[in-house]
Amino acid sequence: MTAVAIDPVHLREDEKNRVTTIDLRSDTVTKPTPEMRRAMADAEVGDDVYGEDPTINRLEQRAAEIFGREASLFVPSGTMGNTIAIKILTRPGQEIICEERAHIYNYEMGMLSRFSGCVPRLVPAPDGILTWAEVKKRIAPKIYYRAQTSLVSLENTNNMAGGSVYPQEVSDEICDGAHEAGLRVHLDGARIFNAATALGKSVADITRKFDAVMFCLSKGLGAPVGSLVLGSRAFIDEAWAVRKALGGGMRQAGILAAAGLIALETMPARLKEDHANARFLADGLARIRGIQIDASKVQTNILVCDIGGTGLNSVDFSRRLAEHNVLANGVGPTAMRFVTHMDVDRAGCERALQVVERCADA
Ligand SMILES: Cc1ncc(COP(=O)(O)O)c(C=O)c1O
Repeated sequence: MTAVAIDPVHLREDEKNRVTTIDLRSDTVTKPTPEMRRAMADAEVGDDVYGEDPTINRLEQRAAEIFGREASLFVPSGTMGNTIAIKILTRPGQEIICEERAHIYNYEMGMLSRFSGCVPRLVPAPDGILTWAEVKKRIAPKIYYRAQTSLVSLENTNNMAGGSVYPQEVSDEICDGAHEAGLRVHLDGARIFNAATALGKSVADITRKFDAVMFCLSKGLGAPVGSLVLGSRAFIDEAWAVRKALGGGMRQAGILAAAGLIALETMPARLKEDHANARFLADGLARIRGIQIDASKVQTNILVCDIGGTGLNSVDFSRRLAEHNVLANGVGPTAMRFVTHMDVDRAGCERALQVVERCADA
């Protein structure tokens, strides 16, 4: 099979401002709501490198309360949040166990090795959900000439596995087992509120056993920028220094935190709509000739389907969709990912399905 360059769809200049575009490439494409924009304009700010931005301080305090943690730190991106946590929880020359589709491995520019001097130990897992039995097998033997495992990193929901969710007993067991084995556990919880919604549990409950947690305001929660790292007071004290070293001291970033506060307080309650829309899309896609998806596995706002039966590859397929103002990314030679979010409603999903059907048939 010819190699296919799997690049996200990039819009041409003339395509960028089309009002009717249904953008299902990612939940990162959401635009701030009018309420967020007003709050940003009115935000009280100060120099956050001195710890003096009242809006950031309020956001960090609320995030820590909601997750039941001692402290949290506002960072510009999920990638920086993961980088900070991993830097603190490891030493150079060590191994990090993660699932083979993990964002920290595939899409964070080799940061495990760049900034922490660590190597990944990848584990394939059905639907991207690791188990303690699989993790345990990958822990390096305690021999002086083997790189020692120091960290397990889980991703909940698992983005490239189609937004799959860790049952709480599975992630709890991994945390308990890892801790008994002397390892630490990090959570890439970019979409942890989606996981909590799917499980009908609080984010505090499903994350309490992790040593460090990162979650994003800028995905399904709809804020324009920002993520938080959470942990113990001592961990967050260290995180301040690592954030500054990475260039993440953002001064009067309270204008961003103001939108983040609205995202944190008001947006989790609406994620179930995105999940229902993703399931609606999946049910519709399953009925289109040439497309394969097990709709019953769609738990949150992300779905991955196979379009191989249409005779097209994902690059050509996403180009065709774009010609009809529907955007979705190829994530494998014949794998397409669709992500629902607050800026695409049910009518948009219905239209997207009609376009997909037309493109699959052409
Ligand atoms: C699972 C996961 N973790 C981390 C990130 C990184 O977030 P950011 O793009 O803010 O760096 C993403 C981004 O899409 C993600 O999907």
